[in-house]
Amino acid sequence: MIIAIDGPAASGKGTLSKQLAAHYRLPHLDTGLLYRGVALAMTIARQPLEDAALAEAAARNLKLDDLSDPRLRSAEMGGAASIVAAIPAVRAALLDFQRAFANQPAGAVLDGRDIGTVVAPHADAKLFVTATAEERARRRVRELRGRGAHADEAQILADIQARDARDGARSVAPLKAAPDARLLDTTNLDIDAAFRAAVALIDGA
Ligand code: C5P
Repeated sequence: MIIAIDGPAASGKGTLSKQLAAHYRLPHLDTGLLYRGVALAMTIARQPLEDAALAEAAARNLKLDDLSDPRLRSAEMGGAASIVAAIPAVRAALLDFQRAFANQPAGAVLDGRDIGTVVAPHADAKLFVTATAEERARRRVRELRGRGAHADEAQILADIQARDARDGARSVAPLKAAPDARLLDTTNLDIDAAFRAAVALIDGA
């Protein structure tokens, strides 16, 4: 069984995908980490994120070991990832790995922006997970403050809106729901309720 989970930044799709992978006993790939990995490699090498040839080379040289670096999780790297993710050659370079992961015999859960549309259009179940930008910003603030980190809600909302705009407007694989995706709006759902709703949609698919 292949489960494709797409949605905007901070929609809760990461947590949901982990829970679904455990529930259905499937391997899980957070595809955002691949784009974050390219962005981090470019940043460490002090290369401009917009340089298509260098970014493509970084994507081709990406190693699985690179994806456990804690620096990948920062908000800055999320923003930087959305810049390299708009480069078609970077997306092409990362496609084979994602497709191979999706097509392993056991099946898989993949989450990202273009799983149901590009990476695994034949997925058995597709969910498009959303929440309002304001609610996503509130969740990010709670998460950061929970970790004792500083969080400026207005700034975080602006960052989320900028990333939505960039991910939705790019010419290759823009963030959009596949025509056959089931919509899951988590604005008024807590983590458990979102998980139950997702299982109901998948089992009913
Ligand atoms: O999901 P996450 O916030 O880690 O993704 C970081 C960025 O990587 C996104 O804003 C998006 O631009 C890009 N991305 C993508 N396609 C995916 C996953 C992530 O373009 N499948």
